[in-house]
Amino acid sequence: MPSGTEVGLLAARKITRLVGARPDAVLGLATGSSPLAIYAALAAHVREGTLDTSRVSAFALDEYVGIPADHPESYASVIDREVTVPLHLDPERVQVPDGRATDLEAAGRRYEEAIRAAGGVDLQILGIGANGHVGFNEPTSSFASRTRIKTLTERTRADNARFFASPDEVPTHCLTQGLGTIMDARSLLLVAQGSQKAAAVAAAVEGPVTSMCPASILQHHPHATVMVDEAAAADLQ
Ligand code: F6R
Repeated sequence: MPSGTEVGLLAARKITRLVGARPDAVLGLATGSSPLAIYAALAAHVREGTLDTSRVSAFALDEYVGIPADHPESYASVIDREVTVPLHLDPERVQVPDGRATDLEAAGRRYEEAIRAAGGVDLQILGIGANGHVGFNEPTSSFASRTRIKTLTERTRADNARFFASPDEVPTHCLTQGLGTIMDARSLLLVAQGSQKAAAVAAAVEGPVTSMCPASILQHHPHATVMVDEAAAADLQ
């Protein structure tokens, strides 16, 4: 069973193969801790010359509402720092939902349109919340949902407090791709590391398909891959 670093290496190999076969691939990007090992491994491929990202496009899963775009923990900043710069992506080809839009509903519709105009997502990278969320589709989210504003649960705000100076600073809302949006991607790659994810991984992979565990909808995707380390696999049968 792989370690967290090996999960990143394996996932990066899969993405590198995809981009090798389809140089203008469209990637879906998750933020948070889970995909960082993937992005580090992809950056190494770019440095070594084994991955050419010059024609790759990317769409982030979600963005906080209510913090400035240049806040170091806005997902626009995180994607720029962890992905666009180290992977040498063309910033013009990288999009993040506009969490600062005055009309957030319209911003959600525009994001859906931009994904469609790019030809859809080839491979969507996903992390999973301890409560089974993917993107910020918290439990009870509709399986048909599209990019829209969501309220973060107290659990998610507490889990993400580590990125902020104080728990009060964690935004209460976000603009997130919906479960329907995520399921439209041609392939999904969910990664999870650590024992705090074990129950959510088991519920998503082996439990009933239920909106109480949004990630369980991945069971209905024809090309979904789940890569976990030993600790995150602990509750699997
Ligand atoms: C982030 C996102 C979330 C995270 C999840 C896990 O863009 O969509 O679903 O993937 O909250 O976060 P980490 O990886 O920080 O444990």
